[in-house]
Amino acid sequence: MLVSTSEWWRSAVIYQVYPRSFADADGDGVGDVDGIRAHLGHLRDLGVDAIWMSPWYPSPMADAGYDVADFRDIDPVFGTLAKAEALIEEAHSVGIRLIVDIVPNHISSEHPWFKAALASPDAPERDYFWFRPGKGANGDEMPTNWRGEFGGTTWTRTPDGLWYLHLFTPEQPDLNWDHPDVRAEFESILRFWFDRGVDGIRIDSAALLFKDKTLPEVREGEPHPFHDLDEVHDVYRAWRRVADEYAGDRALIGEVWMPEVERFANYLRPDELHAAFNFDFLGCAWEPRLMRECVDRTLDAHRAVGAPATWVLSNHDVTRHVTRYGRLDTTFSFDNNLDGTTVDLSLGTRRARAAALLSLSLPGGTYIYQGEELGLWENENIPPESYQDPMWARRGHSRDGCRVPLPWSADEPPFGFSSGDPWLPQPPEWKDLTASAQTGDPNSMLELYRAAIARRRLEDGLHRPAMAWLDLGPEVLAYTRGDRFACVINMSGSPIPLPDHETTLLASGPLDGDRLPQDTAVWLRLTA
Ligand code: NOJ
Repeated sequence: MLVSTSEWWRSAVIYQVYPRSFADADGDGVGDVDGIRAHLGHLRDLGVDAIWMSPWYPSPMADAGYDVADFRDIDPVFGTLAKAEALIEEAHSVGIRLIVDIVPNHISSEHPWFKAALASPDAPERDYFWFRPGKGANGDEMPTNWRGEFGGTTWTRTPDGLWYLHLFTPEQPDLNWDHPDVRAEFESILRFWFDRGVDGIRIDSAALLFKDKTLPEVREGEPHPFHDLDEVHDVYRAWRRVADEYAGDRALIGEVWMPEVERFANYLRPDELHAAFNFDFLGCAWEPRLMRECVDRTLDAHRAVGAPATWVLSNHDVTRHVTRYGRLDTTFSFDNNLDGTTVDLSLGTRRARAAALLSLSLPGGTYIYQGEELGLWENENIPPESYQDPMWARRGHSRDGCRVPLPWSADEPPFGFSSGDPWLPQPPEWKDLTASAQTGDPNSMLELYRAAIARRRLEDGLHRPAMAWLDLGPEVLAYTRGDRFACVINMSGSPIPLPDHETTLLASGPLDGDRLPQDTAVWLRLTA
């Protein structure tokens, strides 16, 4: 049963389900709600507190469901609303909360609002979007030269000569958040899902909602015309009031990509969102000084607003971290495309194991992207003609490599994912990484995650905000939490002696006697 612990979101382990690729029950090669229901035991045994469900709504799938045509239903490829309701109930019955993904910046061009807006220049729905005349004598130049979030242009011309704004693909027209109907509609959508028992909302592209109505160009040193405009905070204050109307600590979790931590923290003021994804950490190099600075920066910014930090290593948009950490350049940024550069997967895996113990023992909430508990790497061998991600055409980088269907069992694709052909190809080498191959193997990534999450539950100190650095030299990350709990990660090039300890609680790899090998992490109970 779901135990109601207040403010559960402060130190929850939240598992991202990407429904297309989790498990397919009906054999069409695309994952679905029944597939998730059939594998709830995996999530229960893993020990996660909540699931964040990437969009499952009716959608033409121009952006894998982030182009929503109806927020109050489920796409037939995934199932039905009744099945989604059953999943919420079944998850709750095994103690797992459920978070849905809401996409407020844009909707699908197939949404009834946009269809009505296109049908007539006089339709009131036009005002729900950004229709503007073009520049130039014939109005055939775009209103601005804003670059899209996937690259490329951001305006498309309609048959009657006006242009509409889309920060992503043309199939994702941006909504006009200055319009009260847009605000009212989204508050009603939140209620629709809260009424169905969901425990939280993940907010897509949370900082992009407002645009400067004078449509200036993006210029260095001037306020950005569509990133992080102050008006957005009013919307989240209103959403917080909606969430607070419901019992059970419903959480709002923002997708906020923002280089300035102070601006980022504004979203987490006590009357706004509960948490936001830490992309600073996700993009940080596997390098002790930079990691430590990132952790400090994160904790300082969150402390200032009383919000919990989050620790995110991967998601459905970024290169899987086994691959990232196996490269020479271990950072991640959309502007620095490292696709196809040399990867040492065994190094990446060793670091990913250490990173699991890091992200599961820092103060705050931890996010696990499906498959990271299996140690999956980016599939960089998908033939480009099989790419489905709209980013590929615009930016020359596809996010499909991290969206490959999960391997559950058996020795060859589709590895129990489906009885049909998976929508993206799985590497045959994943035969050693299936959930069933790893179960019971104490050296597997899956058993490491299970053990770490189970230990995390028991350690009271890991659910409190306090943390103190231990100085074991510049190339070692080491800190204590609570009752003599310590995490030590050796990022130097050679083994290091461990501090005095009573017990080794968990290690990400074999120890070298009483020494900790490079790229290995350990959880210790220090000597009193
Ligand atoms: C962020 C989502 O995570 C990504 O997958 C999507 O393409 C964009 N927002 C647009 O909705």
